[in-house]
Amino acid sequence: MTERESNRKPEKKATGTVEWSCPSNIAIVKYWGKKPVQFPMNPSLSLTLRNALTHTRIDYSYDPRLEGLQVGFRFEGKRNPAFGDRVSRYLEGLLTLMPFLRHLRMEIDSSNTFPHSSGIASSASAMGALAMCLVSMESRMAYVYSSADFFRRASYVARLGSGSASRSIYPGLALWGASDGWPESSDEFAIPVTGYHRCFDGMKDSILIVEPGQKKVSSSAGHALMDTNPYSRTRFQQARENLRTLKGILAEGDWHGFIDLMEEEALSLHAMMMTGRPGYLLMQPGTLSILGRIREFRKETGTRVGFTLDAGANVHLIYDMGQERVVRDFIGSELLQYCVENRVIHDEMGAGPVEKSQ
Ligand code: DP6
Repeated sequence: MTERESNRKPEKKATGTVEWSCPSNIAIVKYWGKKPVQFPMNPSLSLTLRNALTHTRIDYSYDPRLEGLQVGFRFEGKRNPAFGDRVSRYLEGLLTLMPFLRHLRMEIDSSNTFPHSSGIASSASAMGALAMCLVSMESRMAYVYSSADFFRRASYVARLGSGSASRSIYPGLALWGASDGWPESSDEFAIPVTGYHRCFDGMKDSILIVEPGQKKVSSSAGHALMDTNPYSRTRFQQARENLRTLKGILAEGDWHGFIDLMEEEALSLHAMMMTGRPGYLLMQPGTLSILGRIREFRKETGTRVGFTLDAGANVHLIYDMGQERVVRDFIGSELLQYCVENRVIHDEMGAGPVEKSQ
């Protein structure tokens, strides 16, 4: 993929706009641990969300006299130097892969549909939306991609910004990282997961906000701690095996197998945080109460509902769309008490990025 760019020269005077929205995702099998440059230590699989989106628009003009990046960045209408610096560093790193960027002036405007304090992974949707815009620009100015190659290229470019962003490029379920039993899979980009049982269609994710706010420990710092974690090898092996097992579970429509594996992954992720050097703890008392209550409720009622966790205290309640009513009642009567200001964000399996520019 990387060698395939630039078979056409950019037009001498090009101005235009590209605009995409891209969803966030929640991992079922977790990516935790990486090696340079942004390759995962194990494959991961995620659910693409529908409502938690980043909208990104880039107004650009091409000027052959320019040498080097000229980028302005606004987040939710305001100049945001912290985000702007991250975006600039990311774009600098892409100059060899996307040489046309050297001659562009760009104004980037970005906004999220979800609150910053919700604990939803904004780097996945933000880097996903940016990558979709960049590859749209590339396909106008340097190389025309077929549809499948376009998304693969976008996933590759997104991965360089944030590993989990590589998976946000696809609807439904997405897999990133070379994995036995998934012939097309690669460490370089994510692929869409197809062939799963219809019972998983429209799966729901209700995010219980136990603790709003930014991540206490950045993902980068967390990934880095896996380099010295005494249990990391076993963890990487576990994730690889879980992905092999998950293939059968998804094909057969085994909801309870899915839940067991998903919960094991969530607890393993947090076990890695606790056993790092230094170790840290992101779960709060409310998190533990919710996890315990979900397991009891499932045992009592047989409902197809389970939990997963991101790098934070909030709980993602994943459930069968057919059981929405019973789960919503359960949330209302038993779980809201553990949420800050009764906050829950309801989301579900989504259809992937959408282009807004013409
Ligand atoms: C716990 O993708 O945020 O959400 O590649 O450094 O940007 P970077 O890390 P990031 O890590 C995500 C970790 C996770 C699990 C997952 O999404 O698989």
